[in-house]
Formats: sequence, C-alpha cells, structure tokens
Amino acid sequence: MSEPVVYLNGHYVALSEAHISVLDRGFIFGDGIYEVIPAYGGHPFRLKHHLQRLANNLSEIRINNPLTLEQWQTAIATVIERNQLDDQSVYLQITRGVAPRDHRFPEQSQPTVVIMTSELKTVSEEKVKQGVKAITLPDNRWLNCHIKSISLLPNVLLRQQAQDQDADEAILVRNGHATEGAASNIFIVQQQCIITPPKSSMLLPGVTRDLVVQIARNKNICLKEQPISESELLQADEIWLTSSTKEVLPVTRLNDKIVGRGRPGPLWQEMYRSYQDYKQHLRSGHPLPES
Ligand SMILES: Cc1ncc(COP(=O)(O)O)c(C=O)c1O
Repeated sequence: MSEPVVYLNGHYVALSEAHISVLDRGFIFGDGIYEVIPAYGGHPFRLKHHLQRLANNLSEIRINNPLTLEQWQTAIATVIERNQLDDQSVYLQITRGVAPRDHRFPEQSQPTVVIMTSELKTVSEEKVKQGVKAITLPDNRWLNCHIKSISLLPNVLLRQQAQDQDADEAILVRNGHATEGAASNIFIVQQQCIITPPKSSMLLPGVTRDLVVQIARNKNICLKEQPISESELLQADEIWLTSSTKEVLPVTRLNDKIVGRGRPGPLWQEMYRSYQDYKQHLRSGHPLPES
C-alpha cells in the first residue's frame, strides 16, 4: 500500500516526510486545537459545522484562522482524494506554531497546520447491537471544555481509567451533573423523552450531538436540552453516547448496573436508523439538507 499523504503548511507530503520542529508550541505546550471529521465514500460529514467549530475555537484561543473556508474545503478534499480509502477519519490540527519556549504568545509565528487521514474505525456491529459499558468518574478537566483543545491529558487519563475497568467510556460528573463522556456527548431517555445537557463551557458542542438533536426535532420526538443530574443518569431508561466515530452508541451497563432493560432501547433504535439513513445519503452523494 502506498504511504499516506499529509497536508502540512500548504504542502502535500508523504507521512514519513511530514516533520515538525520540537519547538512547535503544540508539542511544547499543547497550544492548539483539532477536529476529527468522518468522510463516507469520500464525502466529509457535516463539513461546514466542523469548520465553523474550528473557526470558533481558533478565535477562542486567539490564533488567526490560517485558511479561508474554500482553502480548508480544498485541502480536506485533496487529502481525502489522495488517500484512496473508503471511509476515512480526517484529522486537522492547528497550533500556534514554532517559537522559542515561552508561555507568552510569540510576537511572530505562523500557525502549524496539519491535515491527515486514516481508515475510519467505527464501533463493531456486535457492540452496537448489544450496547456498551460505561462508568461514571469525576469530571476533573478544566473549565473551557467547549474548546477542542489538543491538551487532552485529563481525557486520556479518564478514558484509560474506564479501559482499566473494562468499560468503553467514562461519563463525567461535575457538581452532581453529568457533563459528557471523555470523548463523546451524552443523551438519556426518561419517560419517552430524550434529554441532553445544554451547551456550555462544561462540554464540547459535538457535531454529532447537533445532528441527533436536529433529527429528533424533525421527527417531533420529545427532546429537552437540560442538565442531567447524576441520579437521573443512574435511573435513565436509555443512555447514548455520540461522537464522530461512535456515531450514536447505546450504553447498556453503567457502573456494573443494567441500564433500562439491558439492551438498546426503542428510541435509540429509531435514532440509529435515521442516523444511518443520513450517512447513506451522504455516501451516495445525495446528502439530506443541512440546517
Ligand atoms: C470531550 C468530547 N466531547 C464530545 C465529543 C463529540 O464531538 P463530535 O460529535 O463533534 O465528534 C468529542 C469527540 O471527540 C469529545 O472529545
């Protein structure tokens, strides 16, 4: 197989040729942001939403957006095309660039921009059908969780704690309320109504989350964006995780207790079907309208 092609600061290069300075502030400080965008049959999923979040995040951390919307679209399309994979996971990272080590922003530096792609690894069909296991853990991250920062050490440690207990995800609890997963957003079902925490600086505004909210609204399914207390989480009829790679994933065991009836629930089934339908339209080149 030929070597993956990576976009690095305006050039398309083989992965083994894509080098970055050890003084890059991404390496030194984790000073940057990222995006993960799935592409189905070469078509990026909700690209405008991902690029809007990227633009918001750059502005939050005070890096000028190095590319225009059209330049982003072209670079992403080129990387997807050059890598000849069917379903891909496109990874974008922008850092504050290379400068002598100093916490203060450098007076002059060019952001480092990387776009790379790999085969999209989704959750196995068996796990989707059975549902996965999650545990609750205290949310010990910083207070700007709406920023998709590359400084992911807390998330890495939380996710590993889940892994150590044979769980697929950690659902994080702050001040008695569930915020999100270590790498996903959360939804619960309570008395036939879907609930997800409202957007705030305590959670990432997930692109998948927004699509799930939109699908529920389009189908007139009851959906509330309101805080979820830990006890509501523990007593939920259904729990779902959403992310670009997990899609809409049912949790059927939480802290070793069975969720609902111990199998993916009816509202999840309905949402999952609609989500797959959305993906199929995208893959066939006839996407459903965005909003
Ligand atoms: C902390 C966190 N929350 C939520 C999400 C889901 O975001 P998206 O649906 O845009 O992938 C992610 C994705 O990686 C994440 O890391």
